[in-house]
Amino acid sequence: MINCVSVDEDLDKVESDAEEDEVFKTDPTISHPQVSSNFSFVVVMVGLPARGKSYIARQISKYMNWLGVQTEVFNAGEYRRKILGPGQKYEFWDTNHKENYSMRKKISYTALADLIQWLQEHKSQQKCAIFDATNSTRARRSTILKKLGRANIPKHRVIFVESICNDPKILNRNIMDIKIKSYDYQEATSEEAKEDFLSRIKTYEEVYQTIEDRFDSEMSYIKMVEVGKKFVMNKIGGYIPGRITSLLMNSHITPRTILLSRHGESEDNTKGLLGGDSQLSPRGRAYAKVLSEFITEQHELRRNYDYLSFNNITVWTSTMKRTMMTSSQIPYDKLQWRQLDEIDAGICEGMTYAQVEESMPKEFAARQADKFGYPRGESYHDMIYRIEPTLMELERQREPVLIIGHQAVNRVIYAYLMGKKPIDCVEIPIPLHTVMEILPNAYGATEKRYDLNDRVDKELIKMLERGEIDHIPKQSH
Ligand code: F6P
Repeated sequence: MINCVSVDEDLDKVESDAEEDEVFKTDPTISHPQVSSNFSFVVVMVGLPARGKSYIARQISKYMNWLGVQTEVFNAGEYRRKILGPGQKYEFWDTNHKENYSMRKKISYTALADLIQWLQEHKSQQKCAIFDATNSTRARRSTILKKLGRANIPKHRVIFVESICNDPKILNRNIMDIKIKSYDYQEATSEEAKEDFLSRIKTYEEVYQTIEDRFDSEMSYIKMVEVGKKFVMNKIGGYIPGRITSLLMNSHITPRTILLSRHGESEDNTKGLLGGDSQLSPRGRAYAKVLSEFITEQHELRRNYDYLSFNNITVWTSTMKRTMMTSSQIPYDKLQWRQLDEIDAGICEGMTYAQVEESMPKEFAARQADKFGYPRGESYHDMIYRIEPTLMELERQREPVLIIGHQAVNRVIYAYLMGKKPIDCVEIPIPLHTVMEILPNAYGATEKRYDLNDRVDKELIKMLERGEIDHIPKQSH
C-alpha cells in the first residue's frame, strides 16, 4: 500500500450509459476473475473533500483488522499521486476539462480494479475492502456497484458510508490540520494551499449528489451527519455491517488521552504464578501510591493544556483485587469491568510456566506456538471478543480514561489503539509499573511511556523507614 496523507478524489459528472460503456471497454476490472463473495465486504466512502472520509476509512480498517477481518483501504488520492505525482491544482478537478476528467476516472477505476484483485486473493478468508474516494455522484456509485457485481460482489455486500458535514469549525480544522499539510501541497504556503483546497471543494460541490432514498433505496448505506450527530441507515444487517455501524456511532474526532497501566506487582507475580486473584505485594502497594501521586501531579501540570489535561479523568479497572488495589488511592471516579479481567489460564491457573511445561508439555508447546488461537483455555482471540464492548465504550469517551488492567488484557487494548494486528500482539512487552499514554489522532495514535520503577524503589525505602515492611523486596519479572 502507498503510504501518504490522502486527499479526496474522484469527482464525476453524471455518466451516461454510452459513456459508461466506453469506460468498460478499457476497464481494468473486467479482466479479473470472480471473487468468492461468501466472506467479502466492500465499504465505499462517499462525501465532499474534508469530511473525514479517510479518517473514517482508517478507523474501520483498524477495527476490522483487530476483529480478525483482513481489511485494506484503497485510496484514490494515493493512486493519483502515484500515477501523476503530487501537486495537482484545483483545475485538475474541473469537470468540464475532458482530459483531466477521463484521467481521474481511470485513476479511480485502477484503484477499484486493485481492490477487486485484492479480494480475489485468498478467497476463503473473511475480508473487507474500503474504497476511499469522494464517489460523489450517483452515476459513479452506480458504476461501482456494476463493476463489483460483475466481480460477483452483490449489492448487499457493498456498504456506502457517506459523511455529511457543514459545521464550519470542523471543516476548517480538517483543512488546516490535515489537508494543507498533505503531500499535495508540499511546495505551497499555508495560504496558497488553503485557497486551492477551498476551490477544489467548490468544484466538487457543483456536481455532488448526496445519497437519497428516492434514488438509492436499494443500496446498503450509512449516512453520518455532522460527525455522528445523526445517522440514517438503509438495508444494514448482519454481523460485520452491525459492527461497522456500532464503531461509527461510538467513535469521534475529539482529541483525548488514554492511559494504560498494568496493576502493581501482585503476590502471585512474585511467585511467577499464572492467573489467580491475589493481593498486591509490598512492591505493588508502593506502585499504587506512586501511580496515584503521578496522576495527581500530571493533573496539576496539565491543567491548562486542553486535551492533554486530566480533568474529569475516570479510572477503569477489572474486578480483580490487584487492579482495584492499584487504583484505590487515586482520587477520581472508578469503574470496574468484568470484561477487563485477566486471560483465563484454565487448568494452568495458579501454576508457574515451568510447572505447566513439566506437567503438560504438549499443551505448553501448543500455546507457545499459537497463543492467539490456543484452543484449551482462553485465547487472545477469545479475549478480543470479550473486551470488544468495553472498547466501544472507550471509543465513546471524550474525557481521559486511565485503564488499570493486566498483561494480556493490556496487550489486546494496546493492539487496538495502536492499530496493530492482534495476532502480533501476544508478545508485546507490557512492563509492570509503567504508564503508557496513548493519544489517538487522525492517522492512528502516538504513544509515550512513563517508567515509574525508580519512584517505586524510593517509595519502598520510605515504607521500610515507616516500619511497614522489614526489608526491600526484590523485583519480580
Ligand atoms: O503472568 C502474569 C499474567 O498476567 C498471567 O496471569 C497470565 O496468565 C499471563 O500474564 C498472560 O501472559 P501470556 O499470554 O504471555 O502467558
